[in-house]
Amino acid sequence: MATSFLVYGPSIVNIGIGASESIGNYIRSFDGSRVLLVSDPGIQKAGLTGEVERILQDENIKKHCFTDIEPEPSIATVDKCLNFALKSGVDSIVAIGGGSTIDVAKSVSICFKGGNSIRTFLGFDRVKEPGIPTIVIPTTSGSGSEASMSAVLTDERDNTKTAVWSRYVVPNVAIIDPVMTRTMPATVTADTGSDALSHAVESYVSLRSNTITDTYALSAIKIIGSNFKLAYAEGDNLFVRQKMAEASYLAGMAFSNCGLGAGHALAYPFTTCYGYSHGRANAIILPAVIRYNSNANEEKYKNIAEALGEQVAGLSLPEAALKAPCAVENILNSVGIATKISAYNIPEDDLYGMAEVAVANGQRLLVTNPREVSIDDAWGIYMESYR
Ligand SMILES: [Fe+2]
Repeated sequence: MATSFLVYGPSIVNIGIGASESIGNYIRSFDGSRVLLVSDPGIQKAGLTGEVERILQDENIKKHCFTDIEPEPSIATVDKCLNFALKSGVDSIVAIGGGSTIDVAKSVSICFKGGNSIRTFLGFDRVKEPGIPTIVIPTTSGSGSEASMSAVLTDERDNTKTAVWSRYVVPNVAIIDPVMTRTMPATVTADTGSDALSHAVESYVSLRSNTITDTYALSAIKIIGSNFKLAYAEGDNLFVRQKMAEASYLAGMAFSNCGLGAGHALAYPFTTCYGYSHGRANAIILPAVIRYNSNANEEKYKNIAEALGEQVAGLSLPEAALKAPCAVENILNSVGIATKISAYNIPEDDLYGMAEVAVANGQRLLVTNPREVSIDDAWGIYMESYR
């Protein structure tokens, strides 16, 4: 019997060099005239916030800037940004930045009408109405936040990751302009691209994957396989920058509509306990997670290996599936990322405690993983990555 599924994404996606120049048209289409412009200090310093400010000024659209966004943003930061937005009397939101900035903007959008803290909406489907119109312009290619119905935040009360999931969190417009990703440093390109690869791989094997999300995910894997190394080496190459931005969007559409898995769940302690970036954390653990999962869906892991350029003809299905972690390791190593925990400043004795944290905090992710993951299993995955 066929099963039904829903697919949500932004109403409008404008992809291409110079796409951000059209931002005024979208604001006007929402009858917007007073915009909350959300970005972060790094993006401001790189001149990208100024670029958008210039476009808004040319269009006679008023702006109120909030740039106080930290990496892995906290609930307190969302509340602060919301208060600023309410005091400024804005009617729409423009976010320019990476996943952290876009997640804050999406959160403020759904809180704005009622003026309630984002804490009110944490969890699944607790948002009951659309927020104010939100336009997002990603400056990294990885988070997928430009496509997704989630906003991931840090709960400063217990230093855990939490999230809001709702179709109303999806931005109205995603403007994906490779020009806005050109100043991204190579290490950020590597880390955020790894996040996109993790989204694509994990959603492709998710227990809730479907025909549509499979198409998004496998396309993203192929694009990343062909362009990641070049984007890392040639930051000014707008063609490969656009390809990676497209892959980020596709992977975002995939995971947003079918979930992630053990990779993201087991990655979180690297960020919350040791401060590694979200993308790097995923990269460290992804190959070991694939090895653990590979016998749960060998056909799909074979497809992943093929999409990343591995020769699988003549191999048995288990052999072909086990090419996937090698392919992922190779591509991550090619962008300067070590994929063994032992290469990082994390003591082996900490791994069991990390496994406890990952399983306790990662249940919303583990429900769609193709294999069950107990605390001992998680510890085994960490140990496999450590050796
Ligand atoms: Fe992610």
